[in-house]
Amino acid sequence: MKILVTGGTGFIGSHTCVKLLEAGHQVVIIDNLINSKKEIVAKIEILGKKSMEFYEGDIRDVNRLEEIFTHHNIDAVIHFAGLKSVGESVSMPLEYYDNNVNGTIQLLKVMKKFKCKKIVFSSSATVYGMNDNVPFEEDDPLSTTNPYGATKKMIEEIMQDLYVGDQDFAIALLRYFNPIGAHPSGLIGESPNGIPNNLLPYIAKVASGELEELSVFGDDYDTIDGTGVRDYIHIQDLAEGHIAALNYVQAQSGIEAFNLGTGEGYSVLQVIHAFEKASDQIVKYKVVPRRSGDIGSCYASTQKSKNILHWEAKLDLPTMCLDAWNYVQNGKKVNK
Ligand code: NAD
Ligand code: UFG
Repeated sequence: MKILVTGGTGFIGSHTCVKLLEAGHQVVIIDNLINSKKEIVAKIEILGKKSMEFYEGDIRDVNRLEEIFTHHNIDAVIHFAGLKSVGESVSMPLEYYDNNVNGTIQLLKVMKKFKCKKIVFSSSATVYGMNDNVPFEEDDPLSTTNPYGATKKMIEEIMQDLYVGDQDFAIALLRYFNPIGAHPSGLIGESPNGIPNNLLPYIAKVASGELEELSVFGDDYDTIDGTGVRDYIHIQDLAEGHIAALNYVQAQSGIEAFNLGTGEGYSVLQVIHAFEKASDQIVKYKVVPRRSGDIGSCYASTQKSKNILHWEAKLDLPTMCLDAWNYVQNGKKVNK
């Protein structure tokens, strides 16, 4: 199939593009490079052993999208493009609603115009809100606590309405838990700009000596050791989940949400210790008060994805830490 991948040079997009090329698909990327670099294109092609088409552009630019759909017979879209920082979304809500919600509406309009009606969308476990009745199931009630989460919930609702109006659409809403790790080659991975917000990139920078120490946000949750528990999933498993979702939308119309997680939760301290073991470095940390908006535990029920997508995560936490560390070390070599 010929797949348009929006946000294809980003963290999850780049790993998914490699899998798409490996699976024999043709790939066309649109990315405005607001949070990624053009060099990633060549790296994806090396790893996927195939070339692809890259369009620098914004999904809100209807002319650019129409140019792509005119030149390529797109069979399906995997839609990653979006802004993803929870904290930033609180201070820049309009940019988040415009980029994520308006961008998706423009994309869907163009898809409808060109009769391309299969889409796999990057949603997030953030749509389960402050509910901490784990494990989360796909039909649990949804709620949000910040503009970023609200954009994901709104887009899911827009896609539900789109399907009601046009039942030829085939839509998979993928609710990711906490993707970490990197491609085992160390060639692509996660490179957040500035000081990372997320746990794993922060730990990696402490282990490599770039940052002094990690602040552990709270040790008084009702969890195994009091620190927050999350469902960390290897980026390679997550990327595989998109191939499964693509097969699903290819086979039938409809709209379904799927959790992409391992179903297992690890605490912040457990992750720190796993990373120390993988990197053979000390990760210095101190416990500070809870971060506002955080919940104690968040992990997935994986039954629906197993049953319907025939997909499940395979890689364990030590492998996630090892591959994340390998990527950091490889980056150091390249930048020397
Ligand atoms: P990322 O920032 O690495 O990738 C997103 C890509 O989209 C970037 O390359 C960016 O340049 C591009 N982009 C942003 N706005 C665009 C626009 N208007 N037009 C064209 N390109 C645009 O993020 P990621 O971690 O790969 O996440 C991909 C998707 O998955 C996002 O929608 C994100 O909200 C969602 N998600 C991520 C996580 C996570 O922890 N990484 C968790 C849940 C959901
Ligand atoms: N944490 C720390 N110190 C840090 C960073 C995080 O102790 O410096 C803790 C958090 O309190 C939490 C855990 O590590 O218990 C994971 O935090 P992350 O920020 O890495 O991830 P979150 O689960 O808070 O959020 C992530 C994405 C969101 C997404 C959500 C659900 O950042 O965009 O997963 O998928 F919505």
